[in-house]
Amino acid sequence: MEQKKESLTRRKFLIKSGLATAATPLIPFSVRGEEPLIATDESSFEFVFMTDIHIKPEMNAPKGFQMAIDKTNELNPDFVITGGDLVYDVMRGDYEKSDALFKLYTQMAKGFKMPVYNCIGNHDLFGIYEESPEDETHPDYKYGMWQRYFGETYYAFDHKGWHFITLNSLDVTDNKRYKGSFHQDQLAWLRNHLNAIDTKIPIVITTHIPMLCTFSQLNGKEGTRTANNAFEVFDIFKEHNLKLVLQGHIHWKEYGFVNDRVHFLTGGSIAGNGWKGRRHNTKEGFMKIKVNGEDFSWDYIDHGWEAERMKLGVGVQE
Ligand SMILES: [Fe+2]
Repeated sequence: MEQKKESLTRRKFLIKSGLATAATPLIPFSVRGEEPLIATDESSFEFVFMTDIHIKPEMNAPKGFQMAIDKTNELNPDFVITGGDLVYDVMRGDYEKSDALFKLYTQMAKGFKMPVYNCIGNHDLFGIYEESPEDETHPDYKYGMWQRYFGETYYAFDHKGWHFITLNSLDVTDNKRYKGSFHQDQLAWLRNHLNAIDTKIPIVITTHIPMLCTFSQLNGKEGTRTANNAFEVFDIFKEHNLKLVLQGHIHWKEYGFVNDRVHFLTGGSIAGNGWKGRRHNTKEGFMKIKVNGEDFSWDYIDHGWEAERMKLGVGVQE
């Protein structure tokens, strides 16, 4: 098990109202010799970030996802956030097949014993590709099928003094491919939404397409694998306490910390390389994130799928 611990703040934890709590200092640990972090029971919690599930009936995928659900229930976090690509895939259309995939995901996700907050990924966009028999006249086109199952593709919720915002990082190009982008309607909503959020509240963004990623630097391949206007989102948050960006899409594990302010965490994947093995050397798994006051730490959880698929004779151990 891998662990990364970050100790970031000297400020006392503030409740959502923006008022400082009269907190009982349960976990006072020093940050580089500075004022101890004050945490409370109320501000300590865990959640799971699980991304790129790519559920489909083939390749033992339901078995692998069920193992991730079982492991999550064993860990018993307060809630689960998914990072998109819930299904594989609906971009090429076929209504019956696509709807069956969302049904399969929804049925299986009922097995989580805690709330699940879903995010949309590129593989979840219905019928957007040229080869799809459906087009934009279909009510489920693009975001439609996802919305029918899960509601709005961008939304926010609060938990124990932290504010969580799930974003829709997908759009469609003129030549009918997906692109990583935060559309302007959403950015207008976000600006308006943040007006009501105290600037001290710690905020977590979830996005499928990364906002920060070293993919192209490491691989020399074209395309940044990031949303083309991520900078606009960062700009909207410049007066707020944006603490962490949770990302999917790459099927790898990446962590970074920019200017003593924003952390980004790309959460591996459940599907690995199309259920055939690791992708980019990252084992199939998910993130467990533990919050203490304004501090957090993360573990990458192996839910046992690699060992299981080796038993099943699928893929190779790297
Ligand atoms: Fe994916």
